[in-house]
Amino acid sequence: MTEQYAHITGWGMSVPERILTNDDLAKMVDTNDEWIRDRTGIQERHIAADNETTASLASEAALNALRMAKVPPSEIDLIIVSTSSPEHLFPSTASLVQDRIGAEFAGAFDLSAACTGFIFALNMASQSIRSGSVKNALVIGSETLSRMVDWTDRNTCILFGDGAGAFVLQAHEEPGGVLSSIMRSDGSGGDLLSVPAGGSAAPTTNQTILEGQHYIQMNGREVFRFATRVMANASKEAISKANLEVEDINIIIPHQANLRIIEAAARGLKLPMDKFAVNVNKYGNTSTASIPLATVEAVEEGRLKRGDKVVFVGFGAGLTWGALTVQWTGPFSTEEPFKLARYQRTARLRSFWRRIQRFFAGIFFGRGRSG
Ligand code: ACO
Repeated sequence: MTEQYAHITGWGMSVPERILTNDDLAKMVDTNDEWIRDRTGIQERHIAADNETTASLASEAALNALRMAKVPPSEIDLIIVSTSSPEHLFPSTASLVQDRIGAEFAGAFDLSAACTGFIFALNMASQSIRSGSVKNALVIGSETLSRMVDWTDRNTCILFGDGAGAFVLQAHEEPGGVLSSIMRSDGSGGDLLSVPAGGSAAPTTNQTILEGQHYIQMNGREVFRFATRVMANASKEAISKANLEVEDINIIIPHQANLRIIEAAARGLKLPMDKFAVNVNKYGNTSTASIPLATVEAVEEGRLKRGDKVVFVGFGAGLTWGALTVQWTGPFSTEEPFKLARYQRTARLRSFWRRIQRFFAGIFFGRGRSG
């Protein structure tokens, strides 16, 4: 088999319509627009409506990416949804997305690496393509962290926003696409950023809820120190693994947590800020969705073009961090876009039909009996 490379050929995003400004937050907790802008660079963030969830945002972003790549959902072999705010503990959000978009031949699973998740998921999808086992993959970062934030805690509630972004990755024998990657974890810092309750260590009880242990808890200063330490180093490592120099890189797309963290990375890499994609001002920290959201906007602004070398770099809870060097590709197909609405209708019908089949199978073969 000829060597296969993993090219990024489609990208899409989805953010809720509702916007929460710093002034809105100042009416909820003891904070103000000036403090939030100075310390974080954030001006506003998008917050999911009641009928929007991690899976609904992920599905919309995925369909936009598929439309861009002109790849119908039925040709996707693998779906990875990276998220820290999954629809449920199980089933995976990825399975729900698979059903919604009608990717009937795809295996789907969630990946949990907090804000670094999109980097880890891109690497996993890319390795699956490089090994020859997968031809077309969908990688999605999606979050509704607003559902896990304590809206009375000014240390955390000012930071986070909701949204989703997705990439389509495709195999091709032409060299390019994902050139290198690094993935790192340090669980000794797990307590610095966590949702303490709701898992097997502390199942949800009235007490855990009363104590607010189902909300995001964060040691902001320590996370800040960790982030400023790893961002530049991870980028340098990924660049040198791709046999490139920092000067060869056209644009760096970092995780959007705090403008000051991105400025520290720029100093560490000795690069001007205009080499970095920044949109934390508009979306806040959307965790694993932030890198694809910034990428979609960088392409739309003409800052990322075919053939460009780009570094994606992120950090997050775990602790985790990682970086990827990519030669940007863009859509392979010159064919007319497929009829997305038709695919969606068929997906809904298929899903409904499978539920009906299971219902009647239950009646005929005995509901509630397993053998
Ligand atoms: N408004 C006004 N004052 C505030 C607010 C607020 N929203 N929040 C904190 N303060 C106060 C503090 O109480 C403190 O007052 P004190 O000195 O009297 O105690 C003062 O402001 C300074 O607080 P610091 O915590 O030192 O502020 P800092 O400059 O470190 O900024 C921040 C805090 C923005 C949280 C910063 O530490 C940060 O960005 N950390 C990284 C967070 C992060 O990136 N988390 C996500 C990781 S990705 C993932 O996996 C989800």
